[in-house]
Amino acid sequence: MFNNKRNKKSKFIAEPRNLIVKTHPKSPVSEQYRTIRTNIIYSAIDHPVQKVIFTSAAPGAGKSTTAANVALAFAQTGKRTILIDADLRRPTIHYSFETTNNTGLSTLIVSDLSLNEIVKKTSDENLDLIMAGPIPPNPAELLQSKKMQNLLILLAEHYDHIIIDTPPVLSVTDTSILSRFVDGVVLVTNVQANNRDELKKAKESLTNSKANIIGIVLNNKKINTNESYYYYYNDQN
Ligand SMILES: Nc1ncnc2c1ncn2[C@@H]1O[C@H](COP(=O)(O)OP(=O)(O)OP(=O)(O)O)[C@@H](O)[C@H]1O
Ligand SMILES: [Mg+2]
Repeated sequence: MFNNKRNKKSKFIAEPRNLIVKTHPKSPVSEQYRTIRTNIIYSAIDHPVQKVIFTSAAPGAGKSTTAANVALAFAQTGKRTILIDADLRRPTIHYSFETTNNTGLSTLIVSDLSLNEIVKKTSDENLDLIMAGPIPPNPAELLQSKKMQNLLILLAEHYDHIIIDTPPVLSVTDTSILSRFVDGVVLVTNVQANNRDELKKAKESLTNSKANIIGIVLNNKKINTNESYYYYYNDQN
């Protein structure tokens, strides 16, 4: 169920989340996540989009859910994929993959631990994870560090696709900072929230940071039944 109410967040946030691309790969929703994957691949033929940020204007739009499912969809093509939880303020990726958040990105940046000690394997051999790690007092500072930039350069040598979950653009500067180090940014929006002004402001903020916005995901959109059947019956994966 889509739940965009902040006051209910603490209830669902700690519960394991269903990764539909994994649990129901033939569902119409999974097909939509694969469409997002395909659109990312085709968004820049001459300059492959290897490092992609998923973000939103406001909180709760569905960016963590989208990032996790799209990362799975990339891994299913047989390409080496890593999903990074760079929401160092409200991390949730560890819930989706039912793992712990004891170490992660924040640990990698502030300690001497190596990538091998931090990266987590998943049941899909092509998908690795970097959790957010302990919540630091200064997330923006960590994300704009030289160490963060070097980490992304190193990961680019080892992975075909790097998917990064981040905080909402209008809440904190973290995503605008990170957007300079990646190839593309995908904005996720909850269409039921009717937040065109917020979306416009987020777009302006990212554009000011020279981010390359490659697309917008319309989340929580009602699709008509015929369309669902169309996707269902054409699903070969
Ligand atoms: N397409 C969807 N269908 C059903 N539920 C969804 C969908 N997208 C998101 N949700 C649910 O909505 C809630 C918020 O989603 P999610 O945590 O992905 O948003 P977010 O943008 O990452 O939030 P935050 O700003 O707090 O990081 C979660 O309970 C998630 O399971
Ligand atoms: Mg999130």
